[in-house]
Amino acid sequence: MKPLNITSQAKSKRSDKSWYILSAGLIISVTVIFILDLQFFASTNFIRNTLNGKMLEVLSAADNFTNRFIDTMKHKLIIIDSDIPDSASEQHVTDRFSNHGNCTWPPLNLQGRTPLNRTDIPIEKLDKKYTFMADGHYKPKNCTAYQKIAIVVPYRDRQLQLRIFLNNVIPRIHRQQLEFGIYIVEQTAGSLFNRGMLSNIGFVQAMKDMAYDCVVIHDLDILPEDDRNFYICGDNPIHMATKVEKFKYRVPYHSFAGGISTFSRKQYEDINGFPNQFFGWGGEDDELFARIKRSNYKMTRPFDAHGHCGSVQHSGQRTGNDRMKMLQISRKIWKQDGLTDLEYNLVEKRRKQLYVWVYADINMAKVREKLKKLNSPSRK
Ligand code: BGC
Repeated sequence: MKPLNITSQAKSKRSDKSWYILSAGLIISVTVIFILDLQFFASTNFIRNTLNGKMLEVLSAADNFTNRFIDTMKHKLIIIDSDIPDSASEQHVTDRFSNHGNCTWPPLNLQGRTPLNRTDIPIEKLDKKYTFMADGHYKPKNCTAYQKIAIVVPYRDRQLQLRIFLNNVIPRIHRQQLEFGIYIVEQTAGSLFNRGMLSNIGFVQAMKDMAYDCVVIHDLDILPEDDRNFYICGDNPIHMATKVEKFKYRVPYHSFAGGISTFSRKQYEDINGFPNQFFGWGGEDDELFARIKRSNYKMTRPFDAHGHCGSVQHSGQRTGNDRMKMLQISRKIWKQDGLTDLEYNLVEKRRKQLYVWVYADINMAKVREKLKKLNSPSRK
């Protein structure tokens, strides 16, 4: 009789055991990865539309799970400092506002990243879709919002983009449970487009309506794709448009401050708003970044990948000033050029259902005349 090979039996038992442990480990890891990834899957329209009701229930439970998860890493932002690009550090948006409301924060029904809806819907239909808005304003019914936000959009002659803007931005801020007003600030014909000055006009006109906690200067054609990119203010100005589609979802340069940025009333006043002297395309956002720094604020950006924004293309604007030269001049005159010397003629302010239309006339010759005085050698 052959002697029992005890060692090889014991070996095979041991290898069975390790196999079980390995399989169990593998199953647990796959399950964990699956649960963590549910949010990603939940936000793809394809899956949402094709899965049956039961699965959708599971997915929305996962949505809530992820949203509660945000609580722990709530509003982490990256501090941007153009001089030291690698010094980006994380910062919590601390709550310095007196009234934080009692709406659940962060909200529970956020959808994560979802693609833009580019369907062109007539304004009458949008009015019917968003009946919760009146006079360009929305306020949550059963709770007090975390912050009151004014969305200020410099505008001229882009009706299609305006409809797409409304149809994307309204449901997103609504899901964020914020109180908000939308101000479309249109410049009359005749002079070059002035994004900075229209932003300043929007700020003044919004604050006349109510004490907003936060003003968001928002391009019409750059739209957030992610609900976790909150339309809120913090201790420092927040640049929300960090990963824009037209820039291949990358920040074009470290100090880029264009697209969408948020300011508390105090922050906007401290930096003296945007410059009024930049007519035509470009430069005003670079000067904005410089003003933030000069006023001892730090521009911040949303944490991680939440800053994705789609872009809705249109033909470019005409260039006006030599923006590089203007940036040089602005360094010296910024305290006299902005909110403090804002002059315009309010042609009309009309409250439509989805937005307040502010129609303003800017006298370009007069504004430029002022520049000559401010920049004259006798004042240096
Ligand atoms: C301009 C900015 C503009 C950026 C991205 C810069 O050269 O000065 O105003 O936002 O390019 O297009």
